[in-house]
Amino acid sequence: MSLKETYLKNASELGQPGQFSETRYVGWRSPSNIALIKYWGKKANQIPQNPSFSFTLSKSFTETTTEYSWHSENNLKLDFSFEGKINGLFAQKVEDYLRSITCYLPFLTHLYLKIESSNSFPHSSGIASSASSMSALALCLVEMENDLFHSLRDPEDFYRKASFLARLGSGSAARSVYGGFVVWGKDGIEKDSTDEAGVSYKVISNNTFLSLKDAILVTSLKEKKVSSSKGHGMMNVHPYSEARVQQANSNLKALNAAILSENDQNFISIIENEALSLHALMLSSDPGYNLLNHNTWQIINQIRDFRKRTGLFIAFSLDAGPNVHLIYKQQNSDTIEKFIQEKLVNYCENGYWIDDKIGSGPVKIK
Ligand code: PMV
Repeated sequence: MSLKETYLKNASELGQPGQFSETRYVGWRSPSNIALIKYWGKKANQIPQNPSFSFTLSKSFTETTTEYSWHSENNLKLDFSFEGKINGLFAQKVEDYLRSITCYLPFLTHLYLKIESSNSFPHSSGIASSASSMSALALCLVEMENDLFHSLRDPEDFYRKASFLARLGSGSAARSVYGGFVVWGKDGIEKDSTDEAGVSYKVISNNTFLSLKDAILVTSLKEKKVSSSKGHGMMNVHPYSEARVQQANSNLKALNAAILSENDQNFISIIENEALSLHALMLSSDPGYNLLNHNTWQIINQIRDFRKRTGLFIAFSLDAGPNVHLIYKQQNSDTIEKFIQEKLVNYCENGYWIDDKIGSGPVKIK
């Protein structure tokens, strides 16, 4: 049975919660993630065209808290605020999302929800805020289900359903529900992998890739010109669409091998190939568009020069935006952070960068 079928069946078995008079609270902090193998292009219902692979960050997160109380009408009631203010656009998005998943969580129509959300980083600047915000919200929702019905007491069931629901809000959010490395999408490396939810990708504890750091070099704080949803949509008619699916699958296999054998050179060339391929797909879409700026290229060139000169493990990745994710290992922190301060910070808007690293995943805060 697919996860979709399982959760629809569960929903009809759960029915509605009994009446309660008090106000209850849930809250989750959920980090963003950086994809090393990019999800780009989707089928109906947020099913990805290709498998993707990411690591979850630590300091770039969303905190979402939800107050909920029971009401007798059969209608979703919602107040939503972002960073302390009512935000009509975001509220509408959250409402549409919640309405779209009431088939999995029918109890929502008997609740009055007051949701508050805030980010530790600027939203819509190419740092994947949809991943952290939708995963934080999905975790609050499964927590509410568990509180009302005790139906998700096994942590594996709890996180799988959170990942499934997060995916329906934003594909990349499916991966943020777990810490460390995460695979989302049916692939040849993780036997439990599925297009419907993320799964943890485990490596032995002394693998040096577990100490990855990610310096997010913010070259622009402006909103993106073209949203990711539009970009995914263009992949349906993209002339390189089939080749992209093959490329992502073979890059994922090669990345898996590079991680297991701790092959730094291969790791670097695969993740940089993925970053540039993502933007090459945008440039060759119809209409073609460019999200990178002059400083993005300056930083990329500097990183490549630095690697040549020092032989150190240093690589770049890119999300759907102009900011550069500088990937390195903890053991080289001193030298690389000096390089960032001396050279790369000059290309960042107002000198802004985020000193992030691989993290252990979401945390319950209420
Ligand atoms: O989750 P979405 O729909 O915002 O798409 C994200 C796509 C990329 O960030 C560019 C790549 C990825 O896999 O995260």
